[in-house]
Formats: sequence, structure tokens, C-alpha cells
Amino acid sequence: MKAKSARIPRAFIDDILNRVDIVEVIDSRVQLKKKGANYGACCPFHNENTPSFSVSQTKQFYYCFGCGVSGNAISFLMEYDKMTFVEAVKALADKIGVQIPQEHMPEQRQVGLNVYEVLDKAKTFYTQQLAKPAHQMARDYMTTRGISDACKERYAIGYAPPGWDNLLKHTGDSPQTKKALLEAGLVIRKDTGSMYDRFRDRLMFPIRDRRGRTLGFGGRVFGDGEPKYLNSPETTAFQKGRELYGLYEALQAARHPELFYVVEGYMDVVALADAGIDNAVATLGTATSAEHIHSLFRYASHIVFCFDGDRAGREAAWRALKVTLPLMNDGREATIMFMPEGDDPDTYVKQHSQAGFEALRNESPSLIEWLFERLLDKINTNSLEGVAKFINQALPLLGKLPAGVLADLAFERLAKLTRTNVAELKSRLSHLRRIGEGASQDEPKAPPVRRPKVASTRRTPMQLLVSLILQFPEFAAELPNDILYASDSDVRGLALLQTLVLMIREQRLANTGAVLECWRDKPEAKMLTKLALIDYNLDKDSLLNEFKGAVGKVEHELLGEAIERLMTKAALEQLTDAEKVELNQLLMQQQRLA
Ligand code: UTP
Ligand code: MN
Repeated sequence: MKAKSARIPRAFIDDILNRVDIVEVIDSRVQLKKKGANYGACCPFHNENTPSFSVSQTKQFYYCFGCGVSGNAISFLMEYDKMTFVEAVKALADKIGVQIPQEHMPEQRQVGLNVYEVLDKAKTFYTQQLAKPAHQMARDYMTTRGISDACKERYAIGYAPPGWDNLLKHTGDSPQTKKALLEAGLVIRKDTGSMYDRFRDRLMFPIRDRRGRTLGFGGRVFGDGEPKYLNSPETTAFQKGRELYGLYEALQAARHPELFYVVEGYMDVVALADAGIDNAVATLGTATSAEHIHSLFRYASHIVFCFDGDRAGREAAWRALKVTLPLMNDGREATIMFMPEGDDPDTYVKQHSQAGFEALRNESPSLIEWLFERLLDKINTNSLEGVAKFINQALPLLGKLPAGVLADLAFERLAKLTRTNVAELKSRLSHLRRIGEGASQDEPKAPPVRRPKVASTRRTPMQLLVSLILQFPEFAAELPNDILYASDSDVRGLALLQTLVLMIREQRLANTGAVLECWRDKPEAKMLTKLALIDYNLDKDSLLNEFKGAVGKVEHELLGEAIERLMTKAALEQLTDAEKVELNQLLMQQQRLA
């Protein structure tokens, strides 16, 4: 991806970032509220109740004080809409009605296909194969599993024929395409270097992202082969802890469904859809992750987890409970639904139809109710020891709930069950947290909240210059030539400052977002972002004064360095006449500055 982005002319990217308005771009996706000089919202990249996401129109940059994400309009589209760099640039270009210069279009069709293109091509190929007369057997299997034609279309189900190179032959074998096939996990390379199709003689379920792009596949064997489902490997584009099978299709049916069912298998999703329940999604053979839940809560306020009724199902439910509790903001709802032993949602809905499935859901406990049920099943609260055990197991779990009405109710419930009171429980919880028993080993600790560094007063003049130029690119015009062209110096950060200023001047970069773009994927990016985010709480005129003060200090530093160098030379060897004159001038200058 990086190599490709280089083909879009730098000047074009600069121009877009100078012209596009990040506030408009973000506001059309996440509603922003004016807050002083900036715009704010609840952060779309982590879960929170009070807004710590801030967008600066002047800087054309966003930052979250809660989780630390930051970036310009391009970064936002890459993060939020999961676009590639090139797609993000193109989307912004479209927005202001300009075109990426044609000769620089990164997709060079005659050369080969990129990863998304081969995935899309594979999807089409597999669906075509399923329709072929020769593959009646695959269609028969669909019939025995009760998959309707409508569902086959809706989920773009296909068939990977037997044979080692059907897909390879179909996509053509330019080196770029082969590389893309490999990257997409569609082919496997042998030690000898030759390649073969990963998926052979399997029913194919394409896994699509929220925008409908195919990211990977699950392929089911016919009959009893191993593995039952072969899945695409994880790639940068396809992360199982993030994607959900069926989410795209569910959102096609309703942008904001009343609720989502989270099930375990591809077939469960498809069977539910066939029964009229088109809001089911499946995790991809992995445990439900916080990211899964977070992304579902973006579209619906109610999640119903469906598990098999066996021990494995209960264990999976307990894991899902732990991940979900911290995300249970007020207004959100979660239900734990178990299939009767021996059933999965696929078989259950086939027997009991939509109405029967929904009836089972209506009898199912909420997440918190189920938590108490489970603990009461396990622990006898008739003894003091039992009560203590109950409290010690429940508290760390309830402690995960975000503050709110639900948490209050849960604590009251616990107080009642254990004949204690809420205040006592809360103090016990903070005690548990203090001694670090708050989280047992099997639960991942919540990531520490990253707070922006408090503006330190121990900042070097060089850091101040860089920071202010990042925030006000127009200050670049104010840097005097003796600093801009100083060479042969060891002053820290000088080279970076010079590059920064020359870049802004030459490329006419007009805002922070555009300037930082030049450092995307470079090692300095993080440090520069930090400097760009320092809040000085001063107006621009005062800051320009600060800037000039820092310029003076750096000039002084450079002067000292030059004097030092000449003095050293004078001590070791002879100075030329010209050098003697220079040293004299420098010393006079230093006196003036002091
Ligand atoms: P199950 O074994 O419960 O299969 O796996 P299933 O969904 O009921 O499938 P059918 O009804 O027999 O066709 C549940 C999920 O676990 C993942 C798949 O995502 C599957 O849908 N899985 C299972 C794999 O990834 N690989 C496997 O070999 C088995
Ligand atoms: Mn099944």
C-alpha cells in the first residue's frame, strides 16, 4: 500500500489537505458539537460517555484525549471507514470535485490486480462455479442444508471446484496478481515456489466488511472432511477479532436494526436469514471481542448472544459476558440466549421457525441477570463463607460496568442478595482494586487510558519552534536564514526544523493536518504529532512572540557552537585571516545578543 501511495503526486495530496474541511468530513459521520475554538464528540474509536474527541478546524486535525488517536482527514477515513490510503485520498478528492491525475492512478489494470480485486474476483468466480451444471453436487448439498436461492444470492455463496489451480488460472498469472493472491490468502506457495489454490471442493462463504468488500472466505467441506471449515488466514486487511460474518448483509437489510443476534457459525447466520431473521452475525471461529461488540453497538442498542446449550457454550457465554460488561452504557441491552442441548441456531430455527426462535429470546435472561444466575448456581449463599465468596466473585465483574443506572441497579441487587449495602460493596471494590485483585488472571486488564502529556515547561527552544510551526505553518515564513541554512551544527532537531520549514514553504502547506501528512509512516510521526498537540493557551500574537524568542535562543545556540568550533581550532592549529575576522564578528554578535 505504501509503495502505491507514493504514486499519487505529493502536491496533489497537499492540495487536497489544504482545501478539504476535516470538520465537514467528520461531521457527516460523527455528529460534532462546537466547543470553544474546536469541535467535540464522543470518540468514535473507543467507548465513552463524555466526549473527549476533539477536532480542530484551523489545524485540520483530530485528537482524542481518552484513547490518544489523532490524525488528519485522510487518517480519519482510513480509520473510520476502513479505507486504504489511496481510497481516502480519492474520497476527499471526489468531495472537492477534483480527480487524481490520471497518469498517477495507482491501479495499473494492465499490470495486474490488487488484493481487494483478487478477493472480489474470487467471490464472483466461486458463485459462477456453483451455477455450473457440472457442480450439481454442491447445489444438492445446499438443498439438504435448506439454503434457499434467495439466501445464496444474498450471501454470495459459491463453490470452489476441486483441482489445484482453478482460481490461479482464472485470475491470470501476472506477478502482481500472484502477489495479491498470496497476500489475500487465496493461494499457498510451496517450498519449490509454485502456487496452488487454498480452497478446493468447498462451499464458499465470502466474508465482507461493512462496505461490502470481500476480505476473505470460509469454506465448508462436504461431508466429514477436516477441517470442517477452512478459513482465510488473517491479513492486514482481514482481522478476525474485528470482522463479523453477516454484518454487511444485515446492514443491507436495515441500517439500524432493532437488535443483533451474535451466533457462532456461518450456517447459523444463513439459516436464520432464511427463516426471516436477517439481523444475525457470526464471529469467525474466534471468541467475541470487545471490538466486535463495540462495532455492533454502533448500529443497534441491543445485542443477543446465542450459544449452544453445552458446557462449551456456557464457557463462551462467560467470556462474552466479561468482554461486554465494560461496554454496557445506559441505554444498551444485552441478552444471553442458550439453545437447548444438541441444537444450534441453525437447527433450532429450522424446527421452531422465526416465532419459536423469538419466543426463546424473550425468555432469555439479560446479561446481568444471567451473571447472577450463574453465580447463584455455583455458590450457596446460605453460609457466611458462601456470601463472602459470592461478593468476591461478583464485585470485580460488576466493577467493569461503566458508571450509570445499570451499574447502580446491579450493585443494589448484589447488596440485596448478600444482605449488605451498596456503600460497603463499593468500598470493598476499591479495596480489591487497590490490592490488585480486581482482575483475575484470565481477564485482560483494560488498557490504560493514555492522557496527553502535560505541557512541560522544560521544552527546548528547538522543540518550541517545531511545535509552533506545526500548529501555525505560516510561522515558517518567520524563520531567519541563519537558522534555515545553518550547516555543520550539532544542535538537536535542527535538521528536522529545516526540513519542516522548507517543506511548508515549497509545498505551501497550510495546516497541521497537511504538514503531518508528509511524515505519515515515518519514525518521527509520533513525536511530531505530540508537538503538534501541545496546548499553549495563548493567542496567536503572543505565540508569535514566543516563537521569536525561541528563534533568538536557537540563534544564540548556533552562535555559541560556531565560536566554540573556531576557538578549538585556534587552540589546536592556526586560524586563517578570514576565520579570525569571522570569529571576531561572531563574538561581537554574541555580545549584542547577551
Ligand atoms: P461448528 O462446528 O459449530 O459448525 O463451528 P457449524 O457452524 O454448526 O457448521 P455446520 O452446521 O456443521 O455446517 C462453528 C463455527 O466455528 C468455526 C466456523 O466459523 C463455524 O461456523 N469453525 C468450525 C472453523 O472455523 N473451522 C472448523 O473446522 C470448525
Ligand atoms: Mn450447525
